[in-house]
Amino acid sequence: MTTNRSYHITTFGCQMNKADSERMAGILENMGFVWSDDPHQANVILYNTCTIRDNAEQKVYSYLGRQAKRKHEQPDLTLIVAGCVAQQEGEALLRRVPELDLVMGPQHANRLQDLLESVFAGNQIVATEEVHIFEDITQPRRDSKITAWVNVIYGCNERCTYCVVPNVRGVEQSRTPEAIRAEIESLGKQGYKEITLLGQNIDAYGRDLPGSTPEGRHKHTLTDLLYYIHDVPGIERIRFATSHPRYFTERLIKACAELPKICEHFHIPFQSGDNQILKEMARGYNQEKYRRIIETIREYMPDASISADAIVGFPGETEEQFVNTLKLTEDIGFDMLNTAAYSPRPNTPAALWDNQLSEEVKSDRLQRLNHLVAIKASERSQRYFGRIEEVLVEDQNPKDPTQVMGRTRGNRLTFFTGDINSLKGQLVKVKITDVRAFSLTGVSCQ
Ligand code: SAH
Ligand code: SF4
Ligand code: F3S
Repeated sequence: MTTNRSYHITTFGCQMNKADSERMAGILENMGFVWSDDPHQANVILYNTCTIRDNAEQKVYSYLGRQAKRKHEQPDLTLIVAGCVAQQEGEALLRRVPELDLVMGPQHANRLQDLLESVFAGNQIVATEEVHIFEDITQPRRDSKITAWVNVIYGCNERCTYCVVPNVRGVEQSRTPEAIRAEIESLGKQGYKEITLLGQNIDAYGRDLPGSTPEGRHKHTLTDLLYYIHDVPGIERIRFATSHPRYFTERLIKACAELPKICEHFHIPFQSGDNQILKEMARGYNQEKYRRIIETIREYMPDASISADAIVGFPGETEEQFVNTLKLTEDIGFDMLNTAAYSPRPNTPAALWDNQLSEEVKSDRLQRLNHLVAIKASERSQRYFGRIEEVLVEDQNPKDPTQVMGRTRGNRLTFFTGDINSLKGQLVKVKITDVRAFSLTGVSCQ
C-alpha cells in the first residue's frame, strides 16, 4: 500500500465514459485518494478509454507506453485501464502492456474499490466478464456543480454493423425509476440546475424492466420516466441523449413539448441519408422516417435544435449514396452534426466486408460534409440574432475572464460580460448580439 494516495483520471470518448469517470473518481475519493491535476504526481493513474474508431484506440496506446516506462522508475505506481478498450482487449492488453495492474471493462466501474484492494494485495487483474451493474453507493465526484450526467440505461442491444459499443458495453440494463429519481433529488438538493439523462440508446429505456400497461406497452418508457422525474425541486433543465430514430415516438415528442423543463434540443444520429446504406448498417429505419421525426418535432416545437451523428465512407458507399447524406444534411439544417469517416472495428460485421473504401475517398467526403455542416450551422445560428435567450451560466470564459459562458436551452454555447462569482448557476436572460456557427455572444438583460 502506498502512503501518497493521489490519483489522476484521463477520460476519452463519450458522455458515458465521462459519467463513469466521475463515479470512479467518487470511489477513489471515498477510499481516501486525492485528485492530482498532474498525472506525473499521482500514484494511481487511470485511463478511461474509448474504441469507437481506430484513432481513439491508438491514442490510448501512446499514453500507456509513456506511463509503462515510468512504472520502471516508480514501482509503487498503480496503472489502470478502464472503459471500452479494456473491455475489447482484456487479457491481450496485459500482454501488450505487462506493467498494467488492472484492466476493467465499463460494467465494472462501480466495483473499482474491490478491484483496487485486490491489486494492492498483490494481484494483477482483468475484470471484463459481463456483470449486473449494481447501484453505486458512493457519490460521484462531478466535474461541474451546475450540470450533471445521470445514467438511466447502460449498454446497447442494437447491432449496427459498424459499431463496437454492444461488444464493449454489454446488453441493456435500465436503472429503476426510483433510483434515478433519488439521484436527481439529491442533485437538486446540492444545487445542480441541469441534468442530462444518459444512455447509448436512451429510447430503449425500461424495456428490460418488469411490468406493462393495460394497453400492453412497457410501463417504464423514457416518456414515463420524464413525467416521473420532471418535478424534482431545484432542477430547472432536463436533457437526454442519445436518441435512436427507430424508437423516437410521437408520445415522447408530445411529452417534451408539454413538460417545461425539457430543453428543446434533440440529439438523434441518422448516420446516413441513403436507404440502402441504412439497411446495410442495420439501423432499422429509412431516411423518410428520419425526416418525419424531425418534422413532427418541429410541429410541436418549431424552434427546436436538432443535432446528430453521421458516418461517411461506409463500405460500398457510392458517390450517389454519399450525396444522399449531403441532401439530408442540407434539408434538415442541423444545429450541429458530429461527422466521422467510417473506421473498421474488431468483431463488427462491416469490418469484414470486402468493399472498403480508400482513406482518400473517406477523407474527401468527410471534408465536403463538414463544409456543409458549418454553413448550415451558421444559418441556424442566425435565428438567434437579436433574440432574448435563457442562458444557464456554467463558467468563466477561459479566453476572456470578463465574460461568463453557458448554454441556451437549444444547447448553443453563449458568452456575455459578467462576474462568474455572482452568476454561476444562474439562469440569465441574454440578448444575442453576435452569432457564429457554433456559439453566440450577447448582453445580459438583468
Ligand atoms: N448510440 C448512438 C451512438 C454511439 S457511438 C447511436 O446509436 O447513434 C457515437 C457515434 O460514433 C455514432 O453515432 C457514429 O456516428 C460514430 N461511430 C460509431 N462507430 C463508428 C465507426 N466504426 N466508424 C466511424 N464512426 C463510428
Ligand atoms: Fe452503436 Fe447502434 Fe448501439 Fe448506437 S445504437 S451504440 S450506433 S450499436
Ligand atoms: Fe467510446 Fe465506449 Fe463511448 S467506445 S464512444 S467510450 S461507449
